[in-house]
Amino acid sequence: MAVHFYENTGVFKLDTPNSTMMLALTPEGYLGQVYYGRSLKDKDLTYLMRTDEPPFTPSVNERETMSFFDAFAWEYPTYGSGDYRDSAFRIRTKSGHEACVLKYDSYRIVKGKKVPDGLPGTFSDTANTLEITLKEPDLGFTVVISYGVFDDVDAITKSVKVINTGSETFFLERALSSVLNIESEKGLDMITLHGSWARERHICRREIPYGRSNTSSIRGESGHQDHPFIAVMDRDASETMGNVWAMSFIYSGNFLAQAEKNQFDCVRVMMGINPEGFLWRLAAGESFTCPETVCIFSSQGIGAMTRSFHDLFRTHLIRGKYRDMKRPILINNWEATYFDFNTEKLLQIARTAAGAGIEMLVMDDGWFGHRDSDNSSLGDWKVNEGKLGSTLKYLVDEVNKLGLKFGIWFEPEMISPDSDLYRQHPDWVIRTPYKKPGLSRCQLVLDITRKEVRDYAYESVKAVLQSANIEYVKWDMNRQLADIGSLGLDCETQGELFHRYVLALYEMQNRLITDFPDLLLENCSGGGARFDPGMLYFSPQIWCSDDTDAVERLMIQHGTAMIYPLSTIGAHVSVCPNHSVGRSTPFRTRGYVALFGTFGYELDISKLSEEELDIVREQTQMYHCYNDLIRRGDYYRISSYPDSNIDCVSVVAKDKSEAVAVMVRVMGVPNVHSLRLKLAGLDGNSSYRIDGDERTYTGAALMYAGINVAGLWGDFEGRIIHITRV
Ligand code: GLA
Repeated sequence: MAVHFYENTGVFKLDTPNSTMMLALTPEGYLGQVYYGRSLKDKDLTYLMRTDEPPFTPSVNERETMSFFDAFAWEYPTYGSGDYRDSAFRIRTKSGHEACVLKYDSYRIVKGKKVPDGLPGTFSDTANTLEITLKEPDLGFTVVISYGVFDDVDAITKSVKVINTGSETFFLERALSSVLNIESEKGLDMITLHGSWARERHICRREIPYGRSNTSSIRGESGHQDHPFIAVMDRDASETMGNVWAMSFIYSGNFLAQAEKNQFDCVRVMMGINPEGFLWRLAAGESFTCPETVCIFSSQGIGAMTRSFHDLFRTHLIRGKYRDMKRPILINNWEATYFDFNTEKLLQIARTAAGAGIEMLVMDDGWFGHRDSDNSSLGDWKVNEGKLGSTLKYLVDEVNKLGLKFGIWFEPEMISPDSDLYRQHPDWVIRTPYKKPGLSRCQLVLDITRKEVRDYAYESVKAVLQSANIEYVKWDMNRQLADIGSLGLDCETQGELFHRYVLALYEMQNRLITDFPDLLLENCSGGGARFDPGMLYFSPQIWCSDDTDAVERLMIQHGTAMIYPLSTIGAHVSVCPNHSVGRSTPFRTRGYVALFGTFGYELDISKLSEEELDIVREQTQMYHCYNDLIRRGDYYRISSYPDSNIDCVSVVAKDKSEAVAVMVRVMGVPNVHSLRLKLAGLDGNSSYRIDGDERTYTGAALMYAGINVAGLWGDFEGRIIHITRV
């Protein structure tokens, strides 16, 4: 049993294979954190709790609450009773008061880990769940914190349920999902992921200063700009060494991830729904479930943290037929044609693609309503047969006859002012009653929190999917929420809109994958603005970025792979000069970079030269050789651009029998010798052979002495290196 409660000391001990989390009760019944780190056999570390330390007098702390509250390592800190750090929980009573404090009531341990009610989350039959119930003694409510303690990966999940067990309505102003209190004599750094459209999830590491440092979204989605992930680490922690504590949020809306260093050099790390724009009415008898966070501890640096996230998400979050399957190699017509296509043009692409080993054609934006640019027709999900020159069924059947599957693009949450839908239902949009809502990409957001609106949107998608043999959907979302307001909510519940929007989205996607269990769903949001664990619960892959340039992708995919498995990272080869940056990179390098994702093409293949088509054939074969390994193996960052001019990542089979590495020398360098490359993650005692090389190497030699890679000439040259155990 990996969860214990020791009655005599009031200690809860949670053990994963290599980590221990310890919580304990003070004599008054406050729940605090004692330890989170490497596995320990010890059962009682309560001497760490500082219950008798004097914060500002030399006398023994006489259990005065205020000074104690402001220093205590609370498991779930509340607002207004003397802890002046940012709280995880804040309520407002009907009379407008906010102070509250939570005390221990009871606990329960159950076998298995279930997904939280109505939300995405992790699942396992073999994990254990601990539920600790806390109560506010003077107000009528209960808080249940659930911990999922995994037995096969070093992850502990936390989620919180608030139940109004009293008789009065109150308002939740803040209900975060997880808190960790971290201290280190070395000082602490943090890693967060930042960017913009076409440059998502660049890695940012910095020292945690005094005060609050956070990353957050109030965009209605996780966003291009910030990411629901935070890792805190010893200042000297590296890729391969040192303590790392990380949190990721299984949610696709507004979030807050914050590190706050206080007067005693302790860092409170918190994660949850962003309190900005959030106010939830909780009537007597009602409950509110906060989305789940994943906590991961690694004592072996950032690389081991990454591999734990990959294992957890691959086996305990992603679902469906395609989770463990090789995905069809797709070709998408977006960068090939943009809005300018018809059935014949698509068939021309499909014919050439079929001969080059590509397995699916995806028809992107522009097939419905009268959409020839991005300024109309969202919401009118009727096939534009005039533009295509055929029915959808004809097109799909012809593509199938070529041996290719067929996929289609939708943007179900959106509406164009120039659409029949808007002309019929101008009130179906998210907006305030007093202001004309602002446009972004010429579009407005449907108020899917209203049942009739999401039913319409979902049924429109369903009807198209039922009209032909469509085996893949790209579900897009090309603007963020603003002018927040819903006709379906009253003045006390307008503050619920952001969260209700995310719940409505989850409900729609759940219907989709239930009605079409064989469908391959790829989520997308203007590139990678909704690449988060919440969406991964519904789709096994997500479009990572609209930027398909191989060099930009090195940085974007590094940041994404910080926590997400390569099997989830939508990556395509496109033409040069690249449409986002105007850069020309070798065709082979573009392929190597995309192979470390889902792999596909986004170009007019019918315009490629014979020489380029030969490379496509080579690449599609490589995909079949390496994809099982890339999807399932352990990921190692060996060196990262832009920190180094040589970028290299590798994937090693779980049984260490095989590995594949891709290296790119970003800028050509004059007068250099061959490059020395040291691999990672192999079995030092095994012997290996490199494809195309007769020599045999020990794993130890490959990792500690390395190999020389010769012949990289020019900018952006890459190599793929495949090794097998002999
Ligand atoms: C978004 C997506 C693109 C493409 C366009 C279509 O930007 O990320 O891949 O589908 O929308 O409008």
